[in-house]
Amino acid sequence: MMRLSGRIALVTGAAGGIGRAVALCFAGEGAIVIVSDINALGCAETLELLECSGGNGLSIKADVTKEDEIQLLYTQIEERFGKLDIVVNIAGGDCEPAADVEDIDYAKMSANLDLNLKSCIISCREASRVMKRQDFGKIINMSSLVYRGSPNQFSYSAAKGGIYAFTRSLAMSLGRYGITVNALAPALVEVPAFVKVLGPERWEMLRKDCAERYPLGRVAMPDDVARCALFLASDDAAFITGQIIEISGGARL
Ligand SMILES: NC(=O)c1ccc[n+]([C@@H]2O[C@H](COP(=O)([O-])OP(=O)(O)OC[C@H]3O[C@@H](n4cnc5c(N)ncnc54)[C@H](O)[C@@H]3O)[C@@H](O)[C@H]2O)c1
Repeated sequence: MMRLSGRIALVTGAAGGIGRAVALCFAGEGAIVIVSDINALGCAETLELLECSGGNGLSIKADVTKEDEIQLLYTQIEERFGKLDIVVNIAGGDCEPAADVEDIDYAKMSANLDLNLKSCIISCREASRVMKRQDFGKIINMSSLVYRGSPNQFSYSAAKGGIYAFTRSLAMSLGRYGITVNALAPALVEVPAFVKVLGPERWEMLRKDCAERYPLGRVAMPDDVARCALFLASDDAAFITGQIIEISGGARL
């Protein structure tokens, strides 16, 4: 039995490593998946992969740092499907890695808050409008294990910590409408973007270093995150809300 049959799901950041895995996983479980990203080409590739494996979906380009583009995304979904059951807010990334505190750059800090935190808040606002009317919904926000704090990731960790606080606040206010709101907090996940930015050698050093420190002895793969998102989006997690789930192989226990 497919776990998301008949569900309409929106996945942002769907051209990326984790977003693509979530989109494919949800489609494989019977959901119709709207794949969205600022990268239209990457989105089209995700949609093609999804359709090749027998899934159904639609690709809509949107820049989540622009309020009007988020609003338009939701309007298009409502016009096309008339409902929206699941939203996974994945678009994000660290715009200011490895800065000393004295070097915090106002523009980069703002970019981190815009891309990771404000985008999530506005997307959830739009989602709640649709979901309240349905008396049903599942919202899953992408935090990170750095929500606990991380040296040299000041604005990124603040944004990801903010997502956790916002997720709890939203869970408190939307519970009575049958809407659950949870967050994912992965440790290092092996995604193509990381390998590309760091280069194979630096990536391998980082991967090895983390694998040695994580009790489960490896870094996460996008599917580890996708399966956790699937659980939260499914009826199995009907009574779970306001939670952050660390997908960390036991890191920082
Ligand atoms: N990879 C990790 O180790 C890791 C760990 C914890 C949390 N995360 C979080 O997971 C999420 C996905 O990251 P990933 O690892 O798949 O990286 P990724 O770079 O592969 O994916 C990020 C996606 O977001 C998209 N994006 C960037 N700016 C956007 C914008 N303004 N509007 C719409 N889309 C935009 C990118 O085009 C990309 O497809 C991010 O929120 C990231 O912070 C990643």
